[in-house]
Amino acid sequence: MRDKVFIGVAWPYANGPRHIGHVAGFGVPSDVFARYHRMAGNDVLMVSGTDEHGTPITVAADAEGVAPRALAERYNAVIAEDLEHLGLTYDLFTRTTTRNHYRVVQDLFATLYERGYILKETTLGAFSAESGRALPDRYIEGTCPHCGYAFARGDQCDDCGKQLDPTDLIEPRSKTDGEPPVFKDSEHFFLDLPAFAEQLRVWIEPRTDWRPNIKAFSLNLIEDLKPRPITRDIDWGVPIPLPEYVDRPDKKIYVWFDAVIGYLSASLEWAQMIGEPDAWRARWQNPDAAHLYFMGKDNIVFHSVIWPSMLLGYGEGGEVGAGTPLRLPDNVVSSEFLTMEGQKFSSSRGVVIYVRDVLERYDPDALRYFLMIAGPENADTDFTWAEFVRRNNDELVATWGNLAHRSLRLAEQLGGTVPEPGTLADADRAVRSAVEDGFAVVGSHLAAARFKAAVRETLRLASEVNQYLSAEAPWKLRETDPQRARTIVHTALQCVNNLKLLFAPILPFSSQRLHELLGHDDVCAPLPERTTHTDPGGEEHIVLRRPQGQAFAHWEPAELPVGRPLRPPQPLFTKLDPSVADEELARMEARAAEQAD
Ligand code: MF3
Ligand code: ZN
Repeated sequence: MRDKVFIGVAWPYANGPRHIGHVAGFGVPSDVFARYHRMAGNDVLMVSGTDEHGTPITVAADAEGVAPRALAERYNAVIAEDLEHLGLTYDLFTRTTTRNHYRVVQDLFATLYERGYILKETTLGAFSAESGRALPDRYIEGTCPHCGYAFARGDQCDDCGKQLDPTDLIEPRSKTDGEPPVFKDSEHFFLDLPAFAEQLRVWIEPRTDWRPNIKAFSLNLIEDLKPRPITRDIDWGVPIPLPEYVDRPDKKIYVWFDAVIGYLSASLEWAQMIGEPDAWRARWQNPDAAHLYFMGKDNIVFHSVIWPSMLLGYGEGGEVGAGTPLRLPDNVVSSEFLTMEGQKFSSSRGVVIYVRDVLERYDPDALRYFLMIAGPENADTDFTWAEFVRRNNDELVATWGNLAHRSLRLAEQLGGTVPEPGTLADADRAVRSAVEDGFAVVGSHLAAARFKAAVRETLRLASEVNQYLSAEAPWKLRETDPQRARTIVHTALQCVNNLKLLFAPILPFSSQRLHELLGHDDVCAPLPERTTHTDPGGEEHIVLRRPQGQAFAHWEPAELPVGRPLRPPQPLFTKLDPSVADEELARMEARAAEQAD
């Protein structure tokens, strides 16, 4: 049976290039999950895009002296390219500045408003004493009331991670001129979160498959819900779809309210792109479709509380929903934080490793591998270059790369085809079935988003096959017992061919290369393509999507036919010199020093 699996992946802000901490949280885990489900025969829809509104964009645009739209345009292109090079197979990676997105956002806002879930209130807004311009939350800095951190922002404390309001800050000051802001009355719209508290609890409490800390964190949030502002004093965002507000240049919908709706609007865009405008309904209005979301830790509240509340409130209303309710998330899969050589990532302080820089110098699979086996799946984790080099050399190269390479070399020495086996010995059968059992074992880990366990088990199987080869030593038997030598090499090749599939969700680039070395001419691990989409209104923008018509290999044991010609062996991975770690550290220090000037 084909299950329908919807995968929503957090939308990266288009305010700069993404660093490896970002893709450790949302990017690579979701892609591994999607690839596994597609290989298992399920019908996956995975969407995301760049998040292009709000103060994250205006702050960066001001700093560069360009318009928000131009800034978002530039980084949308940069990010789409980086994610493509990382091999992320979204069904659609779009952006939040499309007409389609505006329409869907306004439908949700208007419907929630009509249904009484959006309230109007007057609040204190922060304005610059000098210019009178509204000061977005992020422009305000002060001391965190929770942990005492002196540089907490008006929206969030980067030290303890708590969400804040500018009025919470002790000794607030404007980031632009250092002066204390003036707080003035300002009318805003609030999402009535307390109205959903009970429904949220009933929905989250019975979950047994959520990561325990995410479930506990979310239930805890529900204990203390307040109406939450969903508009801002800002000129860059989706217009508020109410008569007296829609044309106001100084008030727009809050970026987070618009961004989470991207999951739905991107699904509509995808359906329209494949020429079946209603295809999204089979995912969103089908009680049998599973909905999973992937993100970094600081995004949990938006996915486990705010977005579900919006979906509950929208109910069966609206122009888009047209009478049928939309599905709530089944799971909210969040990772923890990745730090960098013991420090928090900070692009402003130069403590950062950009995806682009890594991919310029190293194999994308080496990065994917590291983030999956040593990433922040269940606990905050530190990235160090020394560990990156060590895992690349000792695990990827020495275990998996070595096994694939020596098996192909042995086959080459026996004539360059898949050799014909004689009678199988116990050891041959045992190693083959160990690898074949991997499809069930590794598959159950992947289906449950236990990525570390999945990679470890796959690597363990590769070393089991390595041990088998070393113990059987077919190179010693070439003259004395050629039939036995052929049987062993045949067995090793079958194992390698299956391990290639088990590794494919994690290491699509090298699995595809190995697939070809093993004599196949088709694709086993599709890679994304970057193209453009023109909507019916004639607006064109960049999209990233998995190539249509390329199938993912099946998640089940395969058989290499005897006599199949193999291609000349080539190493799958590159061994890194230990000096790489020092070079990278020096590079980072240089960047930090530059930023400090
Ligand atoms: N842009 C946000 C961030 O980078 C994530 C948005 S996720 C979505 O933290 F849910 F809004 F889509
Ligand atoms: Zn704090």
